[in-house]
Amino acid sequence: MIVIIGSYNVGLFLKGRRLPGRGETVIADSFFESGGGKGSNQAVSAATMGAPVRFIGRIGDDKYGKDAFALYRERGIECDRIQVDATTHTGISIILIDEDGRNMISVAPGANLNLTPADIDHCAAELRAAFCVGFQLENRPETVFHGIRQCHAWGIPTFLDPAPAVPLPDDLYPCINIIKPNETEARILTGIEVTDRDSAIRAGRWLCDKGVRHALVTLGELGAVLVGEGRESHFPAPKVDAIDTTGAGDIFAGAFLAGLHRHAPMDEAIRFASFAAALATTKIGVVNAIPTLAEVGAFMQRGAAG
Ligand code: RIB
Repeated sequence: MIVIIGSYNVGLFLKGRRLPGRGETVIADSFFESGGGKGSNQAVSAATMGAPVRFIGRIGDDKYGKDAFALYRERGIECDRIQVDATTHTGISIILIDEDGRNMISVAPGANLNLTPADIDHCAAELRAAFCVGFQLENRPETVFHGIRQCHAWGIPTFLDPAPAVPLPDDLYPCINIIKPNETEARILTGIEVTDRDSAIRAGRWLCDKGVRHALVTLGELGAVLVGEGRESHFPAPKVDAIDTTGAGDIFAGAFLAGLHRHAPMDEAIRFASFAAALATTKIGVVNAIPTLAEVGAFMQRGAAG
């Protein structure tokens, strides 16, 4: 089973012609609400791609928290280790999207910040039995770092999506099997300006020199690079007309882990994840934009033919 430890934030989406400037009010054309949060998106993506998934996190005792449980039940995600926290609200994200698919996101983390190192220790049995454990950085850093160190000590493969990026302690890098930063996160971690394939490879090398086994640096429409264990490879992204890129990195992460869980070689899992994430950007939203396994398969076949 893939275990994801992370955040749930309901997403309140407002789509309009353009994003507001500072101090400005703009009128949006449409509104909708959907599940989100980087951890939750990754869990839902992996489950939708056919992997068995357990999600560990905290949500509030409110309507949004109940919606999260309904989503997990619908997607077959194990949620017996999610805690309902009566002291605060479920995480909330306000997502503004313009007509070109650019977004601005503000998150009030609420219950996500109450996930503690002790909560992780209480899930030791589930973590020790995991195929791999995925983390992101929308919970308290000390909780995430503790989880990564603990899983590493138990010999369980760890996957870190360092989003939103914060500096990582040096001793953490050797505890990470795969790190998946985007261009911005890679720059924050490494100090290297990542703009293209070559600079992404340099950032990947920096991360591997620090001790991670593999660095998978994503570059949006320029694809992704994999660095590690003596290799450096570039994976182009399929061309699509993107209308909303929100959560594309999360969908990539979930699809990638689901691919590995199916025992796909790493290259194939990356290619699969690139197609899943690209397809997701052609719809507005995150959860509702996650394609099915069959849709990704058909898109890959068209891509291979074209
Ligand atoms: O990566 C996208 C996610 O980031 C959104 O679902 C939003 O909740 C924020 O956490």
